[in-house]
Amino acid sequence: ADPEPVQDFCVAAAKTAGADGQATFPGFPCKPESTVVSDDFFFAGLSQSGAAAANDSPFGSAVTAGNVEAFPGLNTLGVSINRVDLAPGGVNPLHSHPRSAELVHVVAGEMLVGFISTAGKFYSKMVGEGESFVIPRGMVHFQYNAARNGTARAVTVFNSQLPGVVLAAPSLFGAEPEVPDAVLAKSFQVDGEIIKLLKSKFQN
Ligand code: GLV
Ligand code: MN
Repeated sequence: ADPEPVQDFCVAAAKTAGADGQATFPGFPCKPESTVVSDDFFFAGLSQSGAAAANDSPFGSAVTAGNVEAFPGLNTLGVSINRVDLAPGGVNPLHSHPRSAELVHVVAGEMLVGFISTAGKFYSKMVGEGESFVIPRGMVHFQYNAARNGTARAVTVFNSQLPGVVLAAPSLFGAEPEVPDAVLAKSFQVDGEIIKLLKSKFQN
């Protein structure tokens, strides 16, 4: 989904703080090739287990991102990779990627992987070790480990250096400033008390 590269590579230069102290990313200027080294094309961040973080999370999941922000050598290459660890009963909660399809490749255990199409059809599959499932760009999706014991793990691969993530529940019920209760109540066809309850789960 990313633009075609116009040169071999463009290793993202180190983030530099702007006037407001924020990183200047996105923008990803290239560092000069004379300073590029083999390690710029190497990333070890997914070698660390996310199992403990998954156990600690209320969702029972942990996603370790290998996008351009973590792995600057990906800049302009149109690919990225994540690691998803699921505790028993854990779910990587409903979310979508506005800029990328996602290939889910299970490397340990098994998980239910599913997405909902724009036609409102739910597609899902139990995906085991060594098997893959693809999520089309922009579709709301999840991975769920139904096992009572036993963790599950997937590697997810994207055709974007920075797929973007919209988490369904936090984006609606945890936005800042808040989306008005009346808008949510009418949209979900429930009363405001239910919206307040949901907001209480997702507001920081
Ligand atoms: C899984 O859905 C991921 O976005 O890595
Ligand atoms: Mn995803």
